[in-house]
Amino acid sequence: MSLLDVTVYKMKRKQANSKDLEENTNDEPKVRAVSFLQLFKYAKREDKVFMGIGVIGSILASMSWPILNALFGSIVDVFVNYEKGRNATLNGIEDIDIITSEEFMGEVYNLSIILFIGWVVITLSNYLMTTFFPLAALNQIHTIKIKYFESVLKQEISWFDSKSSGDFASRVSADLKRVEDGLNEKLGLAIYSIVAVCLNLILAFIYGWKLTLVVLAISPFTAIATAIMNKVQASFARKEMESYASAGNVAEEVISAVRTVYAFGGEAKEVNRYEKNLVPAMRSGIKRNFITGLGNGVLYSTLYFGMALGIWFGVKLTIGSMEEHSDEYTIGKIVIIFWSVLSAGYNIESFYLRVIFPVPTRSKIQGAAAPHFEAINMARGTAAVIFDIIERKPKIDISSKSGKTPQTFSADIEFKDIHFSYPMRPEVNILETFNLKINAGETVALVGPSGCGKSTLIQLIQRFYDPISGGVFIDGHDIKDLNLGWLREQIGVVGQEPVLFDTSIKENISLGSHNA
Ligand SMILES: Nc1ncnc2c1ncn2[C@@H]1O[C@H](COP(=O)(O)OP(=O)(O)O)[C@@H](O)[C@H]1O
Ligand SMILES: [Mg+2]
Repeated sequence: MSLLDVTVYKMKRKQANSKDLEENTNDEPKVRAVSFLQLFKYAKREDKVFMGIGVIGSILASMSWPILNALFGSIVDVFVNYEKGRNATLNGIEDIDIITSEEFMGEVYNLSIILFIGWVVITLSNYLMTTFFPLAALNQIHTIKIKYFESVLKQEISWFDSKSSGDFASRVSADLKRVEDGLNEKLGLAIYSIVAVCLNLILAFIYGWKLTLVVLAISPFTAIATAIMNKVQASFARKEMESYASAGNVAEEVISAVRTVYAFGGEAKEVNRYEKNLVPAMRSGIKRNFITGLGNGVLYSTLYFGMALGIWFGVKLTIGSMEEHSDEYTIGKIVIIFWSVLSAGYNIESFYLRVIFPVPTRSKIQGAAAPHFEAINMARGTAAVIFDIIERKPKIDISSKSGKTPQTFSADIEFKDIHFSYPMRPEVNILETFNLKINAGETVALVGPSGCGKSTLIQLIQRFYDPISGGVFIDGHDIKDLNLGWLREQIGVVGQEPVLFDTSIKENISLGSHNA
């Protein structure tokens, strides 16, 4: 077959305008966010065990709060009873509650032992919580990364066509980071805080529900004040960020076009424009600080008011109990209730601030760190995209074991009635009823103007794409029936732009062969 013959075949080339291309590249299918539990889909058995250990650690660690509070309160009662006993003996009164010095020392000794055990448990449980959750997260991200890369490298070429190539790699690493943030989320901390709040409140109610209710009465105000403050602060912080960002954009634009700015003497004008963008940031910042100050004032005043109310009511109850010779309320119990409610409040606050909505700080403004709660939601959205790709079945599957692997191979190549258009531009026919037969041993050059479809033919032989109709036959086998891995192993390609991988020349040469 001569060179001329080739050009006789009907090759069609229509230049699709670039607008079509853009429209096509943007139609990524929307996937629904995965559920919270599905985030942990790629957790292996050991990861689940790790997370289980983490959960146990967080529960144990949070139990330390109420236990320590109870211990502290009982120490107070021991002190009070010892003092009472001393006074009673001095005044020659007989009292059933009297404690001798030896009994006092014994009680303190017992409490010390319990405290020591508590110390060991707290150390251990905090260690478990903060070690095993991140360990499981790291493992899962490792699995996801490998599965993801494996799956990406299995996809057919047209799948890559649909990805805007340039930022694909950088977007992938940003996406994976987002999923990691979600998995590594303060899950342990959340469990820890919730359990601590519940246990502390239960303890307080057990020791004295009346006083607990009174001390708690102030909490709705504190909660509302905190919530309002956070919301307002966040909205000002957002405005601040936006304003700093737009000022930053101005600076970037000006500096990157500094020659033009100098040429037109636009320096003063640009400084003005920069300042105009900075002003809203400053205003928001001032307002934010004002709100923070006001909020803190309200917060602490309600807190101290609550305490004052609690102490007044607690003392009243204790005196009442003493007069009735009952131990419904003792000083120790008051201490326990106070500490328990305070601990509950502290844990609610730290849960709110550290898990649900940490107010962005200046350092975070640069790093676009989202609130943790949002981080989980973002991870769920991104995980959907990533998991979708991991599970995607390629239309042309290189990992498939099926297909013929003929023993003899002489390489007669035949294109039969091929119709082809690229999946990304289906309206542009590249090949229409294309026929060509190349016998084994023949040397054939395909000649034609740039863009007439020469490279497309090579890609059809490599089975990067499948024709819409017709087929490519090698030694009489339709290449769709051949094993894909085997087929590509038989073909040597020197591309227009040679690619060198970042390794030695020797390894570069041997990369294509599995047994080199
Ligand atoms: N991946 C692709 N997606 C969409 N259109 C493509 C793709 N690759 C090439 N084309 C278009 O197909 C036509 C044939 O391209 P090609 O076979 O590379 O021509 P050449 O004969 O210069 O090697 C050209 O119009 C080109 O723009
Ligand atoms: Mg070409």
